[in-house]
Amino acid sequence: MQNQPIKKLVLGITGGIAAYKAAELVRLLVKAGIEVQVVMTEAARHFITPVTMQALSGRQVFTDMWDAAIPNGMPHIELSRQADAILVAPASADFMAKLVHGNADDLLSTLCLARECPLLVAPAMNRQMWENPATQRNVQQLQADGIAILGPDSGEQACGETGLGRMSEPEDLLEMLMAFQQPKLLKGKHILITAGPTVEAIDPVRAITNFSSGKMGYAIANVAHAMGAEVTLVSGPTQLKPPSQVELVNVVSAAQMLDAVMQRIGEQDVFISVAAVADYRPAKPGTQKIKKSEQSLTLELTPNKDILAEVARLPQAPFCVGFAAESENLLQHAETKRKKKGLPLLVANLVQESMGQDDASVVLLDDAGSHPLPRAGKNRIAQQLLQHIATMMHQQSSKAAT
Ligand code: CTP
Repeated sequence: MQNQPIKKLVLGITGGIAAYKAAELVRLLVKAGIEVQVVMTEAARHFITPVTMQALSGRQVFTDMWDAAIPNGMPHIELSRQADAILVAPASADFMAKLVHGNADDLLSTLCLARECPLLVAPAMNRQMWENPATQRNVQQLQADGIAILGPDSGEQACGETGLGRMSEPEDLLEMLMAFQQPKLLKGKHILITAGPTVEAIDPVRAITNFSSGKMGYAIANVAHAMGAEVTLVSGPTQLKPPSQVELVNVVSAAQMLDAVMQRIGEQDVFISVAAVADYRPAKPGTQKIKKSEQSLTLELTPNKDILAEVARLPQAPFCVGFAAESENLLQHAETKRKKKGLPLLVANLVQESMGQDDASVVLLDDAGSHPLPRAGKNRIAQQLLQHIATMMHQQSSKAAT
């Protein structure tokens, strides 16, 4: 089955305490622009009411095979026909066993059986139930049948146990759903990304830094992983949640970032330098706290190495992508920067329009010219940028082969 962008999703909810998390999941899905049709099993209604799910999804919730609200009287066919995918979250052990055997004794199991679209399940159960050989056999069978298993997570469970089995958090499920639908354009590629600000110590309690949030770099790391790449993210200090399934290397200063990059660059196909690296650091950081006085204070700054330029001039340099944050004359400054650093591709943006915000408008600059991208969320920008990189790399390798 071809994964296509998920615009309409059937969210199946089965009976388990994690059903309460489905409310937050619906909220996030709707916020991401996905039309959500909730279908609940009878058991799910013991944990959360259809009224809650209806209010959050803005659509009538179906629970019954014999619901007269579907005009042709065949909700199992009608609902699965309209969906780009079905996600069952939480999926109980019992429901997974039903899927394995093709049982169809209620609306949700019937529409899963009658589907032509992809099916994803997010298991949620107690540790022993998850570890039971019967459940593990069922998981293997579902995977063999082409059903995607999202999670489960490990941690404290409602029953007081600790271990694997609890449903993945709604934000993680949304991320996994987004990853599922990405074309795997970067499969097998190793990508190193720098992100966030760097922090340059003045003394043990003070530092020079900048306002970079790291959001763009983290979005690129997530989407690159979703497109099939092996991703390493070298990050300055941020408030962001570490992306799952990405190797995260935390650094503080520009010198540490340079070290972390250089240690790993030999294995990379692509280097995307998103970090707002401090251009200067205090020449002689104080080992003790500098005391205040009535005199003015002059700090001597010394330049940091340009990490991107260092990588781009390596004899076996990976495909290098830079970012240019400018406050004026965007295209002119950015193109000069691209040429100076010898980059095949540079992403230019105006600081006042992008820094710290959730969305951005950027222009891609390469040898073919400039390609403005419409203002969009950072995930969407990341997706378009990575598609552009994949196309350029493909063109490069086709040219090399002829
Ligand atoms: N960069 C880097 N190391 C540095 C400075 C910048 O790797 N010490 C990278 C950034 O990650 C970005 C690109 O170089 O991809 C351009 O960064 P930017 O701050 O816009 O430009 P600078 O080269 O620092 O020039 P200026 O500050 O004069 O605009």
